[in-house]
Amino acid sequence: MVGAIRLTKGTLFGVGFAPFLWLAAPPAYVGPAACLPCHRPQAESVGPHPHEGSFARLAKEGSGAIAACVICHVTGFGQPGGWLDPVATPELARVGCEACHGPGGAHAADPDATPLSPPTAETCRRCHTVEQDSRFDFDAMKRTIHPLPESPAP
Ligand code: HEC
Ligand code: HEC
Ligand code: HEC
Ligand code: HEC
Repeated sequence: MVGAIRLTKGTLFGVGFAPFLWLAAPPAYVGPAACLPCHRPQAESVGPHPHEGSFARLAKEGSGAIAACVICHVTGFGQPGGWLDPVATPELARVGCEACHGPGGAHAADPDATPLSPPTAETCRRCHTVEQDSRFDFDAMKRTIHPLPESPAP
């Protein structure tokens, strides 16, 4: 076992190629500022939505470090490259773009190579559970988030 590990470490992949890949790979979650240059209508309209203040409100009432609450009030909780805490990942301290569209680092670096998909009702239901939000209505509520092709800004 030890011999095998030593051998791997000594190969080109172990010391040369892998660190190069790591440097080249964009971070998984990048926060809304990274989307602004190419999606200005969406990025400029999300500010007033309750999603934007979802973590700030928790923190203000003293629940900002309770994982069982934070999980639905930030972006990428428990995901690789996602939410850590308000100091390490301030850009994720909200229900941001990537809470609905998924991690966007690779897409922002090369949109054509890595497309993102529009979310479905199931995406929202991860947080808007029946227990949490029995009145949730995807078709009506998705129009509150940002301008969509079929409906102008709310
Ligand atoms: C460098 C410009 C650029 C950046 C930065 C960028 N995008 Fe995009 N995005 C595009 C382009 C171009 C398309 C359309 C290409 C396509 O459909 O494959 C697109 C498509 C999308 C779509 C799919 C729309 C649809 O209905 O198919 C979503 C969702 C999206 N982007 C979200 C984001 C998010 C979230 C971020 C920030 C994390 C982001 N984008 C950053 C250029 C960008
Ligand atoms: C990561 C968890 C999460 C996801 C995913 C999510 N939301 Fe939310 N949403 C929240 C939280 C938390 C609030 C409450 C924010 C506050 O008031 O502090 C909220 C509030 C809202 C509100 C305003 C309050 C209300 O119930 O009327 C609407 C509308 C809404 N979300 C719609 C959606 C829709 C539509 C989707 C999917 C396209 C979605 N949300 C996805 C967590 C989420
Ligand atoms: C399963 C996901 C989920 C969890 C876990 C969760 N929330 Fe929320 N929270 C939501 C959603 C979705 C909304 C918006 C819909 C609504 O108002 O019910 C919301 C809304 C809120 C609001 C603003 C609306 C209001 O009622 O004033 C506060 C404050 C809040 N949550 C605090 C908490 C606290 C504190 C905890 C932990 C005890 C917690 N949440 C755990 C999803 C969640
Ligand atoms: C609460 C969930 C949610 C958040 C947060 C969110 N979006 Fe969306 N986004 C959606 C939904 C829902 C659609 C439309 C899905 C459909 O067509 O049914 C959409 C569609 C899009 C599209 C495609 C629009 C088109 O013209 O085809 C882009 C681009 C996009 N979002 C970018 C963003 C960016 C950038 C942010 C952050 C500034 C963001 N979104 C934040 C839920 C969200």
